[in-house]
Amino acid sequence: MCGIVAYIGEQNATPIIVNGLKKLEYRGYDSAGVAVLQDNRIEVRRDAGKIARLEALIAAQPVRGMVGIGHTRWATHGAPNQQNAHPHLSSNGEIVIVHNGIVENYLSLRDELLAEGAVFHSETDTETIVYLIERYYAVSQNLSKAVQLTMKRVKGAHGLVVMSSREPDRLVTARLGNAGGVAIGRGAGEMFIASDLPAIVEHTREITFLESGQLAVVSRAGFEVQTLDGAKIQPKTQHIPWDPVSAEKGSYRHFMQKEIHEQVRSLSDTMIGRIDFDDYRVVLPDLNLSSERAKQFRRIFITACGTALHAGMVGKTIIEHLTRIPVEVMVASEFRYIDPIVDANTVVLAISQSGETADTLAAMEEGRRKGATLWSIVNAIGSQAMRSADGTIAMQVGPEIGVASTKAFTAPIVDLYMLAVYLADLRGSITAEKRIDLIRDLLKVPTLASKTLEHEGEVERAAARYKDIRSMLYLGRGINMPIAYEGALKLKEISYIHAEGYPAGEMKHGPIALVDKDLPVLVIAPKDAWYEKMISQIEQAKARGGQVIAVATAGDTLIPDLVDEVLWVPEAPWLISPILTTIPLQLFAYHIATQLGLDVDQPRNLAKSVTVE
Ligand code: AGP
Repeated sequence: MCGIVAYIGEQNATPIIVNGLKKLEYRGYDSAGVAVLQDNRIEVRRDAGKIARLEALIAAQPVRGMVGIGHTRWATHGAPNQQNAHPHLSSNGEIVIVHNGIVENYLSLRDELLAEGAVFHSETDTETIVYLIERYYAVSQNLSKAVQLTMKRVKGAHGLVVMSSREPDRLVTARLGNAGGVAIGRGAGEMFIASDLPAIVEHTREITFLESGQLAVVSRAGFEVQTLDGAKIQPKTQHIPWDPVSAEKGSYRHFMQKEIHEQVRSLSDTMIGRIDFDDYRVVLPDLNLSSERAKQFRRIFITACGTALHAGMVGKTIIEHLTRIPVEVMVASEFRYIDPIVDANTVVLAISQSGETADTLAAMEEGRRKGATLWSIVNAIGSQAMRSADGTIAMQVGPEIGVASTKAFTAPIVDLYMLAVYLADLRGSITAEKRIDLIRDLLKVPTLASKTLEHEGEVERAAARYKDIRSMLYLGRGINMPIAYEGALKLKEISYIHAEGYPAGEMKHGPIALVDKDLPVLVIAPKDAWYEKMISQIEQAKARGGQVIAVATAGDTLIPDLVDEVLWVPEAPWLISPILTTIPLQLFAYHIATQLGLDVDQPRNLAKSVTVE
């Protein structure tokens, strides 16, 4: 979950690394640090808290050099304090490491090292790695060899960068498993390393991603990749089409707000290159799919975590409705533990903004092991979930920085819709007229999203009214049921207000007992097939003294008379309605959190990419 940046070149490494870390703060912000080779001595500056504290420390105790490594931490082992902050030094002060991942066998390694006289200064598992490297270096006098041997001893998934004052002309970086990526970027006479592209794309777009089990020796002039057995590898370099401006906040107060508003554009960006306007067809060449193969599929598993999972739930309804292929949606962290029924005619479809979520990647591995066709819908270009799939639909929405996912929720719904139309077309389960209508509906989405956003002021006022509540219920039905889950998740994660999403019909089986004047109920009630049932939910909540906030379709004259607040969405075809009903809920959570004075982009305890199990 942590962020890593490293630099080797002719410039001062410190500001390059610190600026890179700022771009990665969304990955973790418990502590931050840098280590720079200054006059052939490793100088470390690190502190608890956000990068701003590290900057203040560096301003008070400047450090300068042309090689360095940096880290921003999301604590797993050990409290988020200065001692546990990375980088971690070897006992002789000659080797230093930044690390992302968990050393699963760290207790036994620690005992082994303690028995040899090592003195630990932190509670982190990372310290075992640097001491092992030190031990192997003493024998091999070769940094890459020492890292290689160490990587064979540690269990778990890791990404790391190592620097040594004994080998000042190089950095060694390695990756094992899926603990976040290692991207190596080439500049002119300088090289960059980062766990995520936003840290380095302003310097270079020529990127090589390390695969699991690979190690690279990086110098100013270039780099060499090898396996952990030392066999040389010819790495692939990609040009990354990335707009660094989209990773900036611009005139918005928070990335989350910017990303909510960006949906007007991201919803159309995700369609780019996928709609053939000559005959109104979806084209998804990156799925490498023939019509014969499409007809063989008997089941689709959608697997993902958090918000991506909720997008998958919406996708289930769309895909089943249009293709009649049974779809199961499964929490990625459970997928590999319940022996899912997967065979060669099953598709395992992973959805992930980061493409690095450990549980999602593990679910993909399970699908691969069982012989499924593996697809992914991913935002982060070049990420593991993109690379390891047989076919991919890239979200194409640019970097999402706010920890609370917004545009990376609505874009995959569009992608799943396109996938459903594509599969239905290949399998012959929809007529040409139906296909054209479906695509026409889809093309309305960006405009409808824009109309929904016009109501932000009203949502902000509703937020002011409810910001002091302690708990809230979100109810949805049919295709909008997952939107209740997603609305509740948004509120929880950024405002720390307890919220639960429920299928509306489940209310009477228990949760209705909670309803009183202090528990607002948010009811998602657009004009669709479930409208009348949602009206009776509203009546039931009101009859028990509850306050009701409704998401309703513009022009509805009944709902305003029944409820306390209305959040309006424009009229829309039912299959795309969840994309719109979610927008007021994103705004509602955002405005409650900002009115409470909370850190919306970096809520407590969370990290943007969850690269540990
Ligand atoms: C969303 O607001 C969350 N922060 C979180 O649930 C997220 O969606 C989840 O961790 C999955 O991440 P991914 O899309 O990068 O795989």
